[in-house]
Amino acid sequence: MTSSLFACCILFHVSSAQLSLPSPSYLPPDASSSSQPTNSSSIPNPQWSNLLGNLIFFYDAQRSGDLPNSNRVSWRNDSALNDGQDVSLDLAGGYYDAGDYIKATYPLSFTLMSICWGAMEYGRGYDMANQTAYLDSMLRWGLDWLIKAHPSGDTLYVLVGDTDTDDAYWGGDLGIPTPRISYQINDTRHVHSARSIFAELITLKVLGRMQQRALQQLSLLVQHSIRNATYASTLLEHAQSLYSFAVNASGGQQVYQNAVPQAADAYGSSTFGDELTIAALFLAMATNSSDYFSQAETYYNQSKLSQDDLFNWDSKTPGSAVLFAQMTSSRTNLGGNFSLWQNGVESYFDNIIDENSRGFVTDGGLLYYNGDSDQASLNPALNLAMLLNFYSPLASTQEKSQAYTSFASLQLNYALGSNPMSCPYVVGSSPNSPQNPHSAAASGGSDISNIDTDPPQEAYVLYGAVVGGPDRRDRFYDIRSDWPQTEPALDLNAPLLTLAALHVMNDSSDPFYTSLEPNAFQGAKPSGKPCDAAFPCSGGLSKGGKIAVAVVCTAVGLGVISGLAYLAHLHRKKKYAY
Ligand SMILES: *[C@@H]1O[C@H](CO)[C@@H](O)[C@H](O)[C@H]1NC(C)=O
Ligand SMILES: *[C@@H]1O[C@H](CO)[C@@H](O)[C@H](O)[C@H]1NC(C)=O
Ligand SMILES: *[C@@H]1O[C@H](CO)[C@@H](O)[C@H](O)[C@H]1NC(C)=O
Ligand SMILES: *[C@@H]1O[C@H](CO)[C@@H](O)[C@H](O)[C@H]1NC(C)=O
Ligand SMILES: *[C@@H]1O[C@H](CO)[C@@H](O)[C@H](O)[C@H]1NC(C)=O
Ligand SMILES: *[C@@H]1O[C@H](CO)[C@@H](O)[C@H](O)[C@H]1NC(C)=O
Ligand SMILES: *[C@@H]1O[C@H](CO)[C@@H](O)[C@H](O)[C@H]1NC(C)=O
Ligand SMILES: *[C@@H]1O[C@H](CO)[C@@H](O)[C@H](O)[C@H]1NC(C)=O
Ligand SMILES: *[C@@H]1O[C@H](CO)[C@@H](O)[C@H](O)[C@H]1NC(C)=O
Ligand SMILES: *[C@@H]1O[C@H](CO)[C@@H](O)[C@H](O)[C@H]1NC(C)=O
Repeated sequence: MTSSLFACCILFHVSSAQLSLPSPSYLPPDASSSSQPTNSSSIPNPQWSNLLGNLIFFYDAQRSGDLPNSNRVSWRNDSALNDGQDVSLDLAGGYYDAGDYIKATYPLSFTLMSICWGAMEYGRGYDMANQTAYLDSMLRWGLDWLIKAHPSGDTLYVLVGDTDTDDAYWGGDLGIPTPRISYQINDTRHVHSARSIFAELITLKVLGRMQQRALQQLSLLVQHSIRNATYASTLLEHAQSLYSFAVNASGGQQVYQNAVPQAADAYGSSTFGDELTIAALFLAMATNSSDYFSQAETYYNQSKLSQDDLFNWDSKTPGSAVLFAQMTSSRTNLGGNFSLWQNGVESYFDNIIDENSRGFVTDGGLLYYNGDSDQASLNPALNLAMLLNFYSPLASTQEKSQAYTSFASLQLNYALGSNPMSCPYVVGSSPNSPQNPHSAAASGGSDISNIDTDPPQEAYVLYGAVVGGPDRRDRFYDIRSDWPQTEPALDLNAPLLTLAALHVMNDSSDPFYTSLEPNAFQGAKPSGKPCDAAFPCSGGLSKGGKIAVAVVCTAVGLGVISGLAYLAHLHRKKKYAY
């Protein structure tokens, strides 16, 4: 991690404690400016710098609470100022999770962790694009809220806003339904009440993958915030306290939605070994402690990397393996055997690239996992691209290193418009970008039964939002109510920030989308309706309709039986199931 630490120092080379924001502010340029090829071959390339700037800007648009004077998103208002009132706490602030208004700790923590890790590696890219102050501000907005959400050692707020109520609301940020419920996980060892034994047991048996997430990211920021020792030590205290809570919860370790079933619909956790592993690893990094490192190894040994794993908010093992490789190559005092990790990581990557894994590459070039990619299809591919780039300097041979960066570039280029739709899947970054992100705030609509047409054109451009992505046949319909394809979310932007920062540092040529004709996406867009969780092609129809759809689906290569199997796998977000 020496390189990361250097990157960290570069990232925070400014001596003042909190970076002041540039004046005038960076604001996303009109999308048409991305059709201008850059004529010089210098670094940083201005198009990559703008992409990075836009990707961070998206997080400003997702802010909840009392917006600062420096707010750059003119159409956003202060909102949800009374969050936490139901539990007599101030839980205002933080970020809205996606196209709706819930605040969810688990995916937020993953998002910030991913961005911090990327900033440690490629911090210089943020500097070169003049985006470091915005990154700092973005991270603090999330961290400050996470600190509030962890008011005592044994309590962590994991969700604010009711998923059912929230799903029933489609409108602006001034009319968010109240009351908003604050859901916590806790360890009630010290709390005895007259509740039934059963309820007590449930409560006692609380662990959080949640805590792990928060923890990882907090420990990262310990390094990040070396400029401010007070903030750094606050973060470390929270990190260690959450880790202890997670490891030693009196009722044993469990996934957090056992205590907060309301979280299961949106962001249930499948297992927690991966969280414990990566949390212990980041703590080892932050504290230079071989004790944490060997705890990480123990947890890892209990749930090792499998070829079927992918890296996302619910599944960290591939990230842990790469982090182990990074740490055993540079922090040898902590223990571990680098070549062991090298072998493991390379066989995992090689099998994916050779299509010897659960994933396959679509005709258009996107790495796709049946089930996991059926919603937010770009996410597994971009997360892998990020890990491939992190790892490539450590590869055992030059050939492998090149294979990893090439595959990563293919996935990145796909996301930026090198795909059969000629669509760069980042809102507002090109005339070919999606026009209809599934965002209640940006749409300007208030009629939940007419999301697509009310209003016909979205009121505000949600600059920098990465949308879910196309289907397994590379088709993208750009329909506002089609949340599996068009919904943005905090975690979807994260890997692209990191990849953009790398390209700011290292790539003088333009991002792929500058080469597209301005009407390319309009020309390529499919007619008809998608076939996914928002527009079911095998449910809600008459028998005759189902048969017709089945025939069509089979004809286009989906297969009804596998289609049903995918549905059984869905665990990202279940909403708007009308
Ligand atoms: C690059 O050169 C082309 C052709 O000379 C010109 O049309 C375009 O505006 C230039 N782009 C920029 C960013 O200056
Ligand atoms: C960053 O700021 C410097 C100083 O204001 C300016 O010269 C440079 O062009 C900026 N770079 C980018 C990519 O915005
Ligand atoms: C913010 O408030 C203004 C009116 O003051 C309104 O026009 C705008 O739509 C609101 N923004 C959102 C996201 O609801
Ligand atoms: C602990 O968490 C459970 C589940 O969220 C909740 O029902 C209970 O009220 C909490 N206990 C305390 C003391 O707040
Ligand atoms: C360090 O961070 C803390 C907590 O955010 C803040 O109160 C303090 O003002 C910061 N110190 C400096 C010198 O900015
Ligand atoms: C868990 O509890 C044991 C026994 O009290 C203690 O030794 C250990 O340090 C605790 N683990 C953590 C991570 O706090
Ligand atoms: C970590 O600790 C070792 C001694 O155990 C020391 O040699 C090394 O410099 C430390 N590394 C960092 C980054 O603090
Ligand atoms: C984990 O497993 C590896 C090999 O499978 C072994 O070398 C290592 O000692 C184990 N570590 C721990 C802490 O159990
Ligand atoms: C490290 O792992 C490699 C490859 O698995 C093995 O050949 C080597 O003996 C191990 N080294 C040590 C010191 O255990
Ligand atoms: C940047 O590009 C150079 C030359 O292509 C390459 O050697 C280097 O490894 C790249 N850096 C990263 C972080 O990918």
